[in-house]
Amino acid sequence: MKNTEKDRLNNQTEKRYLWKRFGNGCRETFKNPIKLVILIAFPVLMLGLHTKYGDMLRFDEVKYVSPIFLLLIRNIIPILMIGGTVFLLILFGTPTGSAKFSDEFARIGFTNHAGEVPVLIARQKDKTNRDITIYEFDGMGIPLADWESKRQSIEAALNIHIVKLSEGRNKRNILFHAVPASGQLSDCIEWNDSYLVQDTSSLVFGKNLTGSNVMVNLAKIPHILLGGSTGSGKSVLLKLLLMQALKKNCIVSIADFKGGVDYLKVWHDKCQICFDEDALIPLLTELVAELEWRKTVFRETGCANLDMYNQQSGNNLQRHIFACDEVAEILDKTGLTKEQKEKVSQIESKLSVIARQGRAFGIHLILATQRPDATIIPGQIRNNIDCRVCGRADNVLSQIILDSTAAADQIPKDAAGRFMLHDGTVFQAYWFDDAKLGG
Ligand SMILES: Nc1ncnc2c1ncn2[C@@H]1O[C@H](COP(=O)(O)OP(=O)(O)O)[C@@H](O)[C@H]1O
Ligand SMILES: [Mg+2]
Repeated sequence: MKNTEKDRLNNQTEKRYLWKRFGNGCRETFKNPIKLVILIAFPVLMLGLHTKYGDMLRFDEVKYVSPIFLLLIRNIIPILMIGGTVFLLILFGTPTGSAKFSDEFARIGFTNHAGEVPVLIARQKDKTNRDITIYEFDGMGIPLADWESKRQSIEAALNIHIVKLSEGRNKRNILFHAVPASGQLSDCIEWNDSYLVQDTSSLVFGKNLTGSNVMVNLAKIPHILLGGSTGSGKSVLLKLLLMQALKKNCIVSIADFKGGVDYLKVWHDKCQICFDEDALIPLLTELVAELEWRKTVFRETGCANLDMYNQQSGNNLQRHIFACDEVAEILDKTGLTKEQKEKVSQIESKLSVIARQGRAFGIHLILATQRPDATIIPGQIRNNIDCRVCGRADNVLSQIILDSTAAADQIPKDAAGRFMLHDGTVFQAYWFDDAKLGG
């Protein structure tokens, strides 16, 4: 780009910043009593000065001076008053750290094609959570997707954790909800029953950087895929979810082909657990039959989903959760005989019916695995599991689960119970000791 063109753009940008800051200042002043007092006091003081000392600036006896210059001198106090008020408004509208932020963007090369960096135009504490600061930027035409892809560099440059990234009042403005980078998640947060969400369909995973609960509502996003390498905390998280499901009066069935050693007796009392294909096929057949039955009943009663049916009919049909830790052990066909492969295919086809249709009928899948690739979990099942959670992982695993390497980049290699949700939220899963799953 030619230099003159660049200068013209820079000029235009400068004017736009000033104008924005002025507008911002007006809004800020009316929100902040101290700023309002200063803004009123300043012109009052200047007017006072003008009344008292204005005559001294008349210079009536001065000759041979341009009348325009004289006029300016005589009115210097009102001129300073207006200029000063505008300056104050611009100052009030310029958030602290604005220049530093722009410099940091320039350093990491986060600019638009004209080489302009985004500009911080407002910064305020979130009213609902004082730990969060909301930053508003003029994005200089850089689309939200580019902010997303540069999220990590931006976080490092600005020394913050971005909790949420979104468009502002218009497409030009970008909003960050962020917490200081020093606000780290705790390594272990014990589950407490008071975290249980009251509705019948929401399950809590853990706590995010702002201290809020991270959860999924199965009525909206019906199935969950938990991924992560060995020791990342999948089994603990799976049990945390199943424990909540039981407390919400769901019917929980578990496939555990490792002989049931992973599940203490209390789970066997409360859930249906199957140990091999021969037990799993009838269990899934039953679940699919239940789904078909609910489909007919809901159609006849004109109900769109389980909650609506329960409300209208006064019945209390329960949600069913089918869970499987290390689902690859069930679905991996390598080295199997023809007959065994046939059984796995049956399991796959039933799981895929539930994955495609389970939502409205309250039949849900929670699958955990460290190998979620397409050769193990067929696309028909995987593509219908929208709630994706990934723990400590390498790039490939993170990519398969979240469609990005974000989990590999952001979850420390020695973390346990630290996960990332499909929307990029990092959280520490609640630590749940199943020995306490009594009563
Ligand atoms: N939410 C958590 N908070 C703290 N530590 C955890 C958490 N979940 C798991 N861990 C630790 O990690 C270890 C492995 O967890 P586990 O669920 O068995 O991993 P995976 O099933 O992914 O192999 C646990 O024994 C525990 O020490
Ligand atoms: Mg495990």
